[in-house]
Amino acid sequence: MTDLLLGQTLTFTDDPFTTDAETAAEHDSRGGVVVESGKIVAVGHGDDLRHDFPQAEVTDYGNALITAGFVDAHVHYPQTGIIASWGKRLIDWLNTYTFPEEMRFGNADYAGDIAGRYLDLALAHGTTTVASYCTIHPESVDALFQAAEARQMRIIAGKTCMDRDTAPDGLRDTAQSAYDDSKALLTRWHGKGRAGYAITPRFSPTSTADQLQALGALWAEHPDCLMQTHLSEQLDEIDWVRGLYPNARDYLDTYEMFGLLGARGVYGHAIHLEQREKDRLAELGAGLVHCPTSNTFIGSGLFDLMGLASAGQRVGLATDTGGGSSFSMLRTMAAAYEVAQLRGVAVHPAQLWWLATEGSARALHLHGTVGRLQPGAEADIAVIDLASTPAIAQRATRAEDVWSAIFPTIMMGDDRAIRDVWVNGQRRASA
Ligand code: GUN
Ligand code: ZN
Repeated sequence: MTDLLLGQTLTFTDDPFTTDAETAAEHDSRGGVVVESGKIVAVGHGDDLRHDFPQAEVTDYGNALITAGFVDAHVHYPQTGIIASWGKRLIDWLNTYTFPEEMRFGNADYAGDIAGRYLDLALAHGTTTVASYCTIHPESVDALFQAAEARQMRIIAGKTCMDRDTAPDGLRDTAQSAYDDSKALLTRWHGKGRAGYAITPRFSPTSTADQLQALGALWAEHPDCLMQTHLSEQLDEIDWVRGLYPNARDYLDTYEMFGLLGARGVYGHAIHLEQREKDRLAELGAGLVHCPTSNTFIGSGLFDLMGLASAGQRVGLATDTGGGSSFSMLRTMAAAYEVAQLRGVAVHPAQLWWLATEGSARALHLHGTVGRLQPGAEADIAVIDLASTPAIAQRATRAEDVWSAIFPTIMMGDDRAIRDVWVNGQRRASA
């Protein structure tokens, strides 16, 4: 079975942070994408593809924009139910809202309900791949991988590990059980279908040195896995880390000392970095994940997107659900734009769109697999209505080029802009 999707198409040919943003993508106002057996097999002019693939079933999206599905590089699916909880900064927010909710995920039925709810919300927002933290409970990890498998989604996830008494009773593992459980889960899920495992120490304040060491050893045994954690999100948190790890040179060093720094490391937030940390991360090509709705919502700070991305750091974009206040990568792009404006820089729409697709895929080492409309990539596709509300539609009529047609949807769009989603070559829903 061959499908041909027709509409406007956008294909990045370059990194818009290190080349001219205007020319980093090819736009076709009447383009097409051919999908076969879960893969993209051709991208080109609609009429040419109709001619070349006469057997294809055609889905004509008219003026809508066909793009790679969004890739959300850092989420906590167990926090779905407590998104938008009022009034706290990071450490109090964790203790007040997050940890009590995460305690519930030892119950496999509850974990399964939230995992399914979360992934359906993600898809409804055009997000086809996420990298998620789970909870300390292996049940929470099985639940998410099973829910993703049922939806044929490419996913990255891992058991969140916490063994220090800074985490509450009932939400702690041990160095040994974190190693054993992570290893068992990794063996069960990593590379199974579209699943990938990420070794996941929550962050150094909730792990002992023994646990970080054990997880560093596990990563050394399985270097093809990703490792995800948090880094330098709030100033109070950095002071806390300094007190807990007095021998570390800086926050990053609390990971580096224990074998938890590498190219396949994915570090969430990374706002208040010191020069040594930036140099090390760049040298290794490690992933940094910008979580702008979370960083404003929890009051963490203004990530230096332009400084880091244009210096060649591997930067991705994420909602950080539920520290972030939205499931939407459109809303997240808007927040990235606003945060950069507060630092005196205007991020180009091409840069924002690239971050939400290919940039995040790169941060997760899924480059070429998802995140770009190109032959050979997996067919995870979002179709975007660029006039999804009256407010956006009236603004879009004044657009002069593709980027000014897209920018109102970036700034004002939400799940209403998602006209359709294809996952693994199959159409999921239609408006
Ligand atoms: N740092 C450690 N855990 C978390 C979390 O769940 N959310 C955010 N935003 N930061 C964290
Ligand atoms: Zn997080």
